[in-house]
Amino acid sequence: MTNGNATTGLRDLNVGAPGADQIKGAVSAVYDDVASWSRTGDFWNWGMHDQEMLNELNRLRPGFNAGVSDGFSEQLYYQTLRGLPYSKEEFKTLKVLEVGCGMGEGLNFLTRLVDPARAVGLDISGAAIRRANALLARGDRLAYVEGDAEKLPFEDGEFDLVINVESSHNYPDVDLFFHEVARVLKPGGHFSHIDVFDPASYVRFTKLQQEIADFEWFHERDVTENVKSSIRQRMAPGSFFRKEYARKQMPLRARIIGGIGGSHYAGADFIGHRDALAKVLEFARIRTRSVAEYESYRHHLARRG
Ligand SMILES: C[S@@+](CC[C@H](N)C(=O)[O-])C[C@H]1O[C@@H](n2cnc3c(N)ncnc32)[C@H](O)[C@@H]1O
Repeated sequence: MTNGNATTGLRDLNVGAPGADQIKGAVSAVYDDVASWSRTGDFWNWGMHDQEMLNELNRLRPGFNAGVSDGFSEQLYYQTLRGLPYSKEEFKTLKVLEVGCGMGEGLNFLTRLVDPARAVGLDISGAAIRRANALLARGDRLAYVEGDAEKLPFEDGEFDLVINVESSHNYPDVDLFFHEVARVLKPGGHFSHIDVFDPASYVRFTKLQQEIADFEWFHERDVTENVKSSIRQRMAPGSFFRKEYARKQMPLRARIIGGIGGSHYAGADFIGHRDALAKVLEFARIRTRSVAEYESYRHHLARRG
């Protein structure tokens, strides 16, 4: 049997950098897989630790994470609301969209804090969205839809607030994503973006901030040290994260990708931690070193003009 690629020439088309559709296909396949072994209550981010914010959260919802999480991922979500000009009453009137919502836990958490009129989570992973709808959706108040950040399946001006948490670094074309956010936001609406950056993606981001005239950027907080603190605490022996990781019924390949004690999933590269397994996988080119190039984690807010 001949190799299909050799006869069709498709192989040539695939030479060089992967195309946008290939990247999206790979990303959704990875997260579909992760959704199949994630447990209820799982977030898919590195979290952050800020004692003042944690105290605030505990005042707002005492024992918000008791027995269910270490609270770091909830703090990262809480950060997305900080600096927004809405009172508690105003939040109740808002239509909120989260792009890249994963299993939907973060948006569910935020709706418990600020109770918006309607919240919609979107993700490219069909498996994550099915889980979110089965476990967390609440009629018209909280719904989850499968879709692509670069082609949002919503009308112009449908939302008051769009949030995006540790997701946009996966998108092949952040420019398209930002234009889509501007399109689905009402004039005067807000965009809250929090993500990790490598030097090149931060340059691209600041260029987009200048180029996209629809947005007026009015807040930036560098939370790199707060995120590193979360990762360090998760990597500590006996941590909540390590115990949960040990309990998960994960297939072997997911454990290999995840590194020893789940270090890769926890973002350990970001604190310069590379375990022996990571070094072997990098040497064998099964795993790239590129994640280690991330250098900052930042929160930005913009107003739609
Ligand atoms: C690191 S996870 C963060 C998930 C969630 N925000 C959280 O913090 O738990 C990144 C998410 O972005 C989603 N994603 C990646 N590319 C996407 C795209 N083009 N459109 C929509 N979602 C995407 C992934 O499927 C994944 O759920």
